[in-house]
Amino acid sequence: MTEILIQKAYKEIEKYRNKVINDPYRLDYHLMPPVGLLNDPNGLIQFKGVYHVFYQWNPFDTAHGAKFWGHFTSEDMVHWREEPIALAPSEWYEINGCYSGSAVEADGKLYLFYTGNVKQEDGTRETYQCLAVSEDGIHFEKHGPVLRLPEQYTAHFRDPKVWKKDENWYMVVGAQTLDEKGIVVLFHSKDLYHWEEAGPIAGSGMNGLEDFGYMWECPDLIHLNGKDVLLVSPQGLEPDGDFYHNLFQSGYFTGELDLESVKFQHGPFTELDRGFDFYAPQTFTNESGRTILYAWMGITDEQEAYQPTIVNHWVHALTIPRELELQHGKILQKPVEELKKLRKDQEVVEGNICEGISMELLVDFEKAGPFEISFRNEAYLKFDSDKFTLKRRNFKTGEFEKRSCKIASVSKLQILMDHSSLEIFVNDGEEVFTARYFPNPEDVTISIQGDVEFTWTKWNLG
Ligand code: FRU
Repeated sequence: MTEILIQKAYKEIEKYRNKVINDPYRLDYHLMPPVGLLNDPNGLIQFKGVYHVFYQWNPFDTAHGAKFWGHFTSEDMVHWREEPIALAPSEWYEINGCYSGSAVEADGKLYLFYTGNVKQEDGTRETYQCLAVSEDGIHFEKHGPVLRLPEQYTAHFRDPKVWKKDENWYMVVGAQTLDEKGIVVLFHSKDLYHWEEAGPIAGSGMNGLEDFGYMWECPDLIHLNGKDVLLVSPQGLEPDGDFYHNLFQSGYFTGELDLESVKFQHGPFTELDRGFDFYAPQTFTNESGRTILYAWMGITDEQEAYQPTIVNHWVHALTIPRELELQHGKILQKPVEELKKLRKDQEVVEGNICEGISMELLVDFEKAGPFEISFRNEAYLKFDSDKFTLKRRNFKTGEFEKRSCKIASVSKLQILMDHSSLEIFVNDGEEVFTARYFPNPEDVTISIQGDVEFTWTKWNLG
């Protein structure tokens, strides 16, 4: 069964290869599916020196379905190899998808934890937290479910993220209570095969939080600068001022997690990204101790099915890798240093216009009054007294839509543009706007207009 599914997926890649690679919106330096739909990054790890990025993948359609785990590896997070398919949904406990999860190393082996998704004919869902193990990081042996659904939660229970502290293993799982509140549940284990519930650590209606969504997906518990930080993707928040305008959110709570008493005292929720296309982030700590984040540069909303790459049989990509730092309780995100390897043709731009498609722009402001940057006449970033606004066209309606965020002043912008993506880092990663956009491939003009004095440096990337 596994082999048949895998061969079928490889045939799908072959069938559409030419269409996919000739798409003008194909990206130069982002990870993308070879065909079909990509969503969450999974199983991020540096294992025996090599970086592994797995991803949620439906090879057979540009819509969601029974997910596989696709797999890329790299020595430097810049040059990537496409590896054999890591997981295909072939077994009874995952027949409707090998859903999201994470990776750890133990005894020199790579352990993947993921959610086996099962949908019965009458629509009822089952969920199994599963394990697959590899000696070489490339070929995985499935061990099946290691954790069953506890009775206090609905079958919206998924996305295990595992880590080690002292001699114990811990896992957080995104869950929904029987009265439909999104929460995160903590488990522990001595051996990675037997898991016991410790209890919920955060959620809607917990720790002083009011109603905060009906489901929390893709939790990730990390340690940054002496604090415990819970990253999570809540579903069901209503827009509130400049916040929560995407269908689903991704953000974090900072605090102290007491693993003994199972108490997480935390502050308010902060969104990680202020753009349109950012969801289900996951982090890992590399061998030199840096915390690095990838996210899905997309989201499941009603525009998803209207992305123009769909005619060429692929959709979505991952963000670039970003290094995280915590300063004054706030996460700062910066493109990882390694991405500088992509830089070529450095140019200090004269005037207020430059040209390019796949490039990095560094704008240092000596004076920043109101200004607007036009990206290939298809997306616009505006700054006005204390507010940034990013505008792009809705993929479904073609109308302009906006995302805004308050920032008192701006000193620096680092912008990574690819054929159909923008990642805009404001003031060294204080805020980030991530978006896909689909400009006329012939239009290569970037311009800055306004009450500004600046120097800008440009590199082509690739
Ligand atoms: C987040 C998510 C996860 C799930 C996966 C399925 O985008 O819904 O909760 O495991 O995608 O592809």
